[in-house]
Amino acid sequence: MTQEWQQAGLTADQRADIVVKAMTEEEKFAWLSGPMAIPLGDEPLPEGAIGSAAYYPGISRLGIPAIQQSDASLGVTALGNVRPGDNATALASSLLLAATFNPEMAERTGALVGQEAFAKGFNVQLAGGANLVREPRGGRNFEYLSEDPLLTGIMAGYSVRGIQSQHVVSTVKHFAVNPQETGRVVVSSDLSEAAMRESDLLAFEIANEVGQPGAVMPGYNLVNGEWASENAFLLNEVLKGDWRYPGWVMSDWGATHSAAKAALAGLDVQSGANLDQQAWFAEPLRAAVARGDVPQSRIDDMVRRILRSLFVVGAIDHPAQRHGDIDYMAHRLLAQREAEQGIVLLKNSDAMLPLRRGAKQILVVGAHADHGVLAGGGSSAVTPVGSLRLPGVDFMGIQTDKVFQPSSPLWAIRAESGAENVDFVSGDNLDETLKQAKKADVVILFAEEWRSEALDAQGLALSDEQNTLITAVAAVNPQLVVVLETGGPVTLPWIEQVPAVIEAWYPGSGGGEAIAGVLFGRVNPSGRLPVSFPASEAQLPHPQQVDPESTTSLPGMPVKGGIIHIDYQVEGSDVGYRWFARTGQTPLFPFGFGLSYTTFTRADLQATAEQEGVQVSFTLTNSGARAGAEVAQIYISPTDGRFVPRLAAFQRVELQPGECRQVVLTLEPRVIACWDEQQQAWVIDAGRYDIVLGQHASDVSLSVQIDIAARRFGYCRAE
Ligand code: GLC
Repeated sequence: MTQEWQQAGLTADQRADIVVKAMTEEEKFAWLSGPMAIPLGDEPLPEGAIGSAAYYPGISRLGIPAIQQSDASLGVTALGNVRPGDNATALASSLLLAATFNPEMAERTGALVGQEAFAKGFNVQLAGGANLVREPRGGRNFEYLSEDPLLTGIMAGYSVRGIQSQHVVSTVKHFAVNPQETGRVVVSSDLSEAAMRESDLLAFEIANEVGQPGAVMPGYNLVNGEWASENAFLLNEVLKGDWRYPGWVMSDWGATHSAAKAALAGLDVQSGANLDQQAWFAEPLRAAVARGDVPQSRIDDMVRRILRSLFVVGAIDHPAQRHGDIDYMAHRLLAQREAEQGIVLLKNSDAMLPLRRGAKQILVVGAHADHGVLAGGGSSAVTPVGSLRLPGVDFMGIQTDKVFQPSSPLWAIRAESGAENVDFVSGDNLDETLKQAKKADVVILFAEEWRSEALDAQGLALSDEQNTLITAVAAVNPQLVVVLETGGPVTLPWIEQVPAVIEAWYPGSGGGEAIAGVLFGRVNPSGRLPVSFPASEAQLPHPQQVDPESTTSLPGMPVKGGIIHIDYQVEGSDVGYRWFARTGQTPLFPFGFGLSYTTFTRADLQATAEQEGVQVSFTLTNSGARAGAEVAQIYISPTDGRFVPRLAAFQRVELQPGECRQVVLTLEPRVIACWDEQQQAWVIDAGRYDIVLGQHASDVSLSVQIDIAARRFGYCRAE
């Protein structure tokens, strides 16, 4: 039977309107609140649910499919082993993706996630982690991208674009200013509107513009004392008002706190209702409508937003399959290529790397490198068949494991090195390890730092055992390479004693092969740090971390009514490298830093300021002997010091030896501007600005000055 919404030539909005009019009140409310579709305790799986984060019933008489939602940005997960035997490709962490500074890679890997979700029957992917890495110890930094709003927004946006190209809706999350995990449900992120607009909100704004995500997910936290899921400033004023967002807002799982207040503030769906005090968007919301507290038009708007997003990505015209074909080997290779581009070479004294092939004896140590590579914990943990699962943490009533994904660096090193012997030791027995290390031509030592949803790293240090091991091995064999598998920046107390260090992040299903490729030179590393590496916690705006048990106020963290208020106005929009610039501190490694096996020169930097914006042009040359990729970074700041240098444009450029390329970039005007709270607009002050073409945030070797005219721009607001 042909449905009315199937008429040719209708827009997604028109089709959504038709379906909303045809739906019963029961059918509407069935979409506004639903349980987690993972059995907790002896709860059965909802009838029709595949088994995943969420399920909402289809409307077969109208030809509308069920809504099946899965996590997350790094691949299709099976939390709580809800789909035993389910395989999936694990992408590298989002930090690694951002380290590629390559939007095209974000789109390609996003499409991989979307295709696997579609083939498994999912039409919504809870992806698009776009919180700024404001807290370097944050438990979910591996799911976020960067400390910079431009890099974060662009990379998240292209990833979302890739997912949605496969007829799967993507979210962006967790809106907004949700940088820490410990105490995430009792923490209020407090900062001014201007600081928020110029940092965390700008990242989401750009991600929304680039990716057009079908849904947005607010975080568990409060923002300036209001829960994000019922924060009218965030949801109605900024997202749906200023940004004209047409999709739907779904709460995080167990993060809804009211019926009428949340509905009127802009929340459209209560997710994971079985984790909340009550199914607010079921009976309580129906009662609020009956009382006239919430107009029926708001209920229709909620459902219309969902339908519109599903129509726009084609999820209704192309219903997701069940057990569709997935080319896992092709996907694994793409995951490897991503990892190859995002691994960062931090140190390479005397060009120790790449290692010579054909050694007699290589020793590989630690981090279960004989089995695989580390992944972050929680709802985003992808568990390919063959993963090593160790005890992790319990959250939301579900056991989440510490997972090593099956891409063994040891076997990849055996394949790539051509060495006669490549042995492995866990590193647990120090004496045995040192005995073997002394005999080796080279030692490749893997150091891991596991992070997970629901808890932050306690400090920035690797474990004492690992730091002790690294120091001891360096003392017996100077031919030592340390490979870091971390969920964010870490301190490196032994850095002076170790000649070569690479940051491999959580490198995903092709991570072992990517690491081996960099170590033995098949790959020229081109990753650049998307986050600063502090020299110590003392350098941070908030050296003291959140203590969820704390009922007493701490400096910058007053406790009121059980809520811990974190004063992020300390740094405001000067997150990460901007904080280091403002305070004149030198990090261990700056944002944007990364070494290469070749060399590059930068020249001919010019800048023009026209009505349509500021443009720069420059030339890059590969002055070395092998192909490589440079990441050009443009930083801008006013000469009067009104604000510190901000990343305003970037581009990854691949160059053959001797090749010279002219590059032209346009600077993001909202990075040049500041948000004026009185005028409620972006304002660029007239004056002289420094424009730097840097290899990283601390490099000011090539700059020009330019005069920029005053400019004011903002949002069309209904008067
Ligand atoms: C989790 C996460 C969110 C995830 C959701 C469903 O608690 O905060 O990112 O998408 O619940 O698993």
